[in-house]
Formats: sequence, structure tokens, C-alpha cells
Amino acid sequence: MDCFVAPLLAMTAAPESLMTAALSSNAPKPKSFLAALGGAAQKIPPIWLMRQAGRYLPEYRAIRAEAPSFLDFCYSPRLATEATLQPIRRFGFDAAILFSDILVTPHALGQSVSFESGDGPRLKPIESAADFTALREEPDWARLEPVFETIARVKAKLPPEVALIGFCGAPWTVASYMIAGRGAPDQAPARLFAYRQPDLFAALIDRLADVSAEYLARQIRAGAEAAQIFDSWSGALPPAEFERWCVRPIERMLARLRASAPRAPIIAFPRGAATRLAKFAGLDGLSAVGLDAAVEPSAAAAALPAPLALQGNLDPIALVAGGRALDEGVERTLRGFAGRAHIFNLGHGVLPETPIAHVERLVARVRAG
Ligand code: CP3
Repeated sequence: MDCFVAPLLAMTAAPESLMTAALSSNAPKPKSFLAALGGAAQKIPPIWLMRQAGRYLPEYRAIRAEAPSFLDFCYSPRLATEATLQPIRRFGFDAAILFSDILVTPHALGQSVSFESGDGPRLKPIESAADFTALREEPDWARLEPVFETIARVKAKLPPEVALIGFCGAPWTVASYMIAGRGAPDQAPARLFAYRQPDLFAALIDRLADVSAEYLARQIRAGAEAAQIFDSWSGALPPAEFERWCVRPIERMLARLRASAPRAPIIAFPRGAATRLAKFAGLDGLSAVGLDAAVEPSAAAAALPAPLALQGNLDPIALVAGGRALDEGVERTLRGFAGRAHIFNLGHGVLPETPIAHVERLVARVRAG
């Protein structure tokens, strides 16, 4: 059954010396991830997975236990570097994503943020103009220093073929947590706030756009070679609000990044954007769009003309299921994006219950071409 899985990849903890070996043989060309982001279709698409570090890995669970809280973990360069590298050692992905979280931005703006184990994030909700005024205008960059230190450490340790991705949350998605104080179904609290207090909401979104663009520029200066903007909850907005709170703020971020970090490729992931994906096609400074599992590749290819690269979009549940569902899903994804600059990924993050053998099988199948 697992004939595609190289014995090397089946090892539980590959030592450093095996990392390079796992990446050679039939792995794609050096930094094929960056070549694809440049708009060039690769014979074998580069692959990385959103949430490729995390609880499905026993080695992550082991080091996670060393920090008293999830934020302490994110702010420890030693632990965050290790968490970033773990999935590269194990699976030989073509890109590493910085281990951190989108909610370090509100934390650096002075909002209280914590993570309850098994229960997601908790923030002190922004309910009034006074709560907004209490936020800092400039983030406390000293609080984010460990993130930049992590980037530098990872960069020094990554095999040369592997690119390093920085990231942040998009203004709308981060604002939805800042207002609700937690994950909320349909992002109803933030939508209500935006309808009732549009000027105040616009001020929050603008603050987040400017701070997040500067945060990404600093990540790039520290060594990140590309960056992804996660708009995980853009699908909750109706068209006019989607335009105002998702598209325009990302456009504003891209304009700032063109001035401060003009060469770094940027990926936007507007999850749930569906037919509104076309709004991202013309955005100056955008190199790729991440697609969720509901998007048909041919529809994306039509809505998002080359040279924009397309990233995605296997169903994370198919990866949990494995077997035929996984094999067929991989085949359909590869076929759907054939001929296009494509970066293989899931339509959303790796789920904690994902069996490691299924990830090994996925990588082997994609690399088999
Ligand atoms: O992709 C990676 O491997 C890099 C690390 C990463 C994490 N979060 C680690 C994490 C990235 C890129 C994120 C982004 C993030 N964080 C998003 C956007 C992507 C998405 O999934 O939609 C969002 C919405 C968040 C906010 C967040 N962080 C939530 C809602 C939660 C709780 C849900 C959960 O899965 O537990 C987190 C915690 C979190 N962030 C964990 C990890 C590995 C789990 C916490 C733990 O290990 O104790």
C-alpha cells in the first residue's frame, strides 16, 4: 500500500545528515517554490502545507510541553526554530513556514491575548472607541524581536533547496478575533461592529494593514524569502464588505510592501472567496493566490490569469482519510493545475488527527510526477 513512500521518509526522526538525502533524488530543482512564485510552471510542483508544524507531529507535542503557554512557545526562538524545521526534516517540503501565529500582531499592539489549551484564542474584545484608542499606534517591536530572531536562526539551518515563508493575518481576519475576543461562527461580532461603527472599524483595519505590512517587511529583512497573508475568514463577508474589508486592505498592504520590500513575492489566501477570487487577479505586487478546497482549478485558472501562481487546494479531510480519497484528490489537484505555475498545498491547514503516513504518501505522490 505504501509503495510510494521512500523508506527514508518513513523514519520517525530523521537526523540532520539525512535531511539533504531526503531532498535529493527526485525532489524538484533548487528553490522551485520561488521559481513557481515567479510565474514559471514547474515540472514537479513545489509542495508545502499550511499548518505543517503542529499537533499531528509527536516531535511537536514533545517540545510544545517545554513552554508554559502557546505564546511563550511562539516567542522562544529556540522552540519556534525547532518547530519550523521539524516538518522539513520529516517530509522534505520545498518551503518552511515560520512557526508563530497571526495573533502576535494584536498582542504587540497591546491587546491581551492568550490561548486556552484545546479551546482556541482568547483576547480582551474591542467593543468601543476607547478600546481602540487604548491600542498602540506602533507595535511594541521588542515583543516581536524573538520572531525575527527565529527567522534568522531557521534561515541559517535550512537546506539550500528550501525557501522560508513569513506570514501574518490579513486585517479582516485579525480584526475579527480582536472584536469577538475569540473564534466566532460566521464572524458575526466583527460583521455587526463593521455595520454599526464603520468609521471606527475602518480605523482598526487601516491600523492593521499598515502594521502588518511593516511586520512582513521586517520578516523579509530578517531573512524570509516570501510571505503569506492569511485571510481565513474572508468568505464570511457579503460582496460590498468583501471589497471594503478584504480586497482594499490587502491592496494597501501590497502598496506599502512594494515600497519597503519590493522583491519579496507575496501570497494572499482569501479563504472562501469563491467567485470573488477574480478581485485578486489584478492586484499589483501579488505573486500567488491560495485556494481553498471548494475552488475548481479550471475556474481559478480562468479567473486568475498567468503569471499569477496558484497554490492549493487538496481537502485537508482527504489527507486525514488517506487511501483512495487521498490518491484521487492528489491526482485531480495535479491534473487541474497542470501547465500552470502551481504550488501544491491543502485548501486549509493540516488537522491534528492527520496520520503521518498519509503526509508521507502525499509528498511521494506529488514528487512521482
Ligand atoms: O503553518 C504553520 O505550520 C505555521 C504556524 C501557524 C500557526 N498558526 C500555529 C498554530 C500559522 C501560519 C498559523 C496561522 C493562524 N493562526 C491562522 C490562519 C490560518 C488558519 O488556520 O486559518 C489563524 C486563524 C490563527 C489563529 C489561531 N491560532 C487559532 C484559531 C488557534 C486555535 C485553533 C487550533 O488549531 O488550536 C491557534 C493556535 C495555533 N496556532 C496552534 C498552532 C500549531 C495550536 C496551538 C498549540 O499547539 O497548542
